[in-house]
Amino acid sequence: MIVCHCQHITDRDIDAAIDWMRASDPSALITPGKVYRALGKSADCGGCMPLFLSTMRRNDNLEIPMQLRNLRALPTQERPHARRQESH
Ligand code: FES
Repeated sequence: MIVCHCQHITDRDIDAAIDWMRASDPSALITPGKVYRALGKSADCGGCMPLFLSTMRRNDNLEIPMQLRNLRALPTQERPHARRQESH
């Protein structure tokens, strides 16, 4: 199925790019821009983005790596504004 008509990208192209990126870097964050780049193309009108994203989300290899999840929830050792106070 054609997903991006401007660049003639199919759902299989997207799956292949995601699978290739995940196999080459297990910790990679895979974005639509990276998929375009992996295919040697770039987005034109952007009209395909909703379908492009839903196609990407169907791929099991798109999942965010476990080590990058919940980074905002991790407690920090540093007090807020600690560095700002030290510099004055
Ligand atoms: S349809 Fe994909 S960039 Fe235009």
